[in-house]
Amino acid sequence: MKQSEFLFPKNFRWGTATSSHQVEGGLTNNDWWLAEQTGGYIYQNQGAGQACDWWNRAEQDFDRMAQMNHNAHRLSIEWSRIEPRQGVWDDEALARYREMLVGLRQRGIEPMVTLHHFTNPLWMVEQGGWENEKVIFWFERYTRKVISALGDLADLWCTINEPNVMISQAYTIGRWPPGKQDLNATFRVMLNLARAHAVAYRAIHEMSPAAQVGIATHIMSWRPRRPWLPLDILATNLIGHLFHFLLLDMVTAGIMRIPGRRSSPVPEAAKTLDWLGVNYYQQYRISFNPFAAGTLFMDLCTQAGVLKGPGGWGEIHPRGIFDTLRMMWNHYRLPIFITENGIPDPTDEQRPQFIVTHLSNLWKALQKEVPVLGYYFWSLVDNFEWTEGYDPRFRFGLISVDPETQERRIRPSGLLYAAICQNGGLTRETVEQYTPSLLPELFSA
Ligand code: FCB
Repeated sequence: MKQSEFLFPKNFRWGTATSSHQVEGGLTNNDWWLAEQTGGYIYQNQGAGQACDWWNRAEQDFDRMAQMNHNAHRLSIEWSRIEPRQGVWDDEALARYREMLVGLRQRGIEPMVTLHHFTNPLWMVEQGGWENEKVIFWFERYTRKVISALGDLADLWCTINEPNVMISQAYTIGRWPPGKQDLNATFRVMLNLARAHAVAYRAIHEMSPAAQVGIATHIMSWRPRRPWLPLDILATNLIGHLFHFLLLDMVTAGIMRIPGRRSSPVPEAAKTLDWLGVNYYQQYRISFNPFAAGTLFMDLCTQAGVLKGPGGWGEIHPRGIFDTLRMMWNHYRLPIFITENGIPDPTDEQRPQFIVTHLSNLWKALQKEVPVLGYYFWSLVDNFEWTEGYDPRFRFGLISVDPETQERRIRPSGLLYAAICQNGGLTRETVEQYTPSLLPELFSA
């Protein structure tokens, strides 16, 4: 589909996404810090350390966002700072977040605030974490505290980041703390997360009626490895249901549908989404494996000869963002934000093309009437990447960061994205300057 330009709606939100543990530094009261102490979870047993030192100098990066014409930013609030001990609140921490949100708005950057991005306070983990039903109450109380202190400073609230990733990594596969491989725990946690989201949704609406509340889900492009083999097709559909739809069906339709079990109603969670956040990164091929009971009889792989990320990262598949957006819109009929999209690429060889091809596919979805309201690139700055820690292959930033010296350097992709944000889309001039090889594919002569 060749065009003369790819312009986006006037009020489209353009920005980047970050999370507290990955950028703030100095966090020693949550389960990822505990995982550092335990060892075995993170690349070379590293710790997040000072990360990007946002707790002390986020404003310097906010200046960079403004210079790069961003009008939005998605960041997260750290529960273990706000409530360092059960029922004990840290007003100074809340004041610092206030200062940060005000700082963003003063620079013309609208914050989207995530309440929970993977990390859990130690006091809560010590009592069973997300497996303990009391977490629903704890999460509501935390949400109310945050909204009473910060609710006036943001119109977009994301309750929980990627519950599907947290559940599968921490309770099904066991690569993340608490390192469990337990299907019963998996479904119990899922139910608690859906119910915690729902109480938070209601609390936010009660306290801040104009707020729009959503969840950010990780969506992958999944294909059967052998498209002619019914078992591979079945495995692909099953993982799609478990990973993409099971939790979202609870917070929309109010039903928990676990394959092979009787569906159970979760009426208290129904209709608790105003928008849906989609974190889209990659594509995998799925095959049925009768010997892989621990991964629900499924294997994940990538195809040879296709562009991939490092390590176990999947295939780079820009068309997948279009298919994903249409799939999610057809399923839920909710406005969508791309709450994350990005690529691990320390040399910035792939990132410029990645941005242009994903945005042209996002634009195509807009032409098909999918209501996409904004795009948050992952990430502004290189940061701490969970189990990959500071593995030099896993650099996601538009701006590179030296974790030792905190020195920043804008990458070419950062300049490209700045031009896109300024023009409100992809113009021929921008593509010609940064990704000329894509000109013939995108633009009419
Ligand atoms: C997502 C996470 C985010 C970041 C990116 C690379 O799954 O939400 O924190 O680590 O992957």
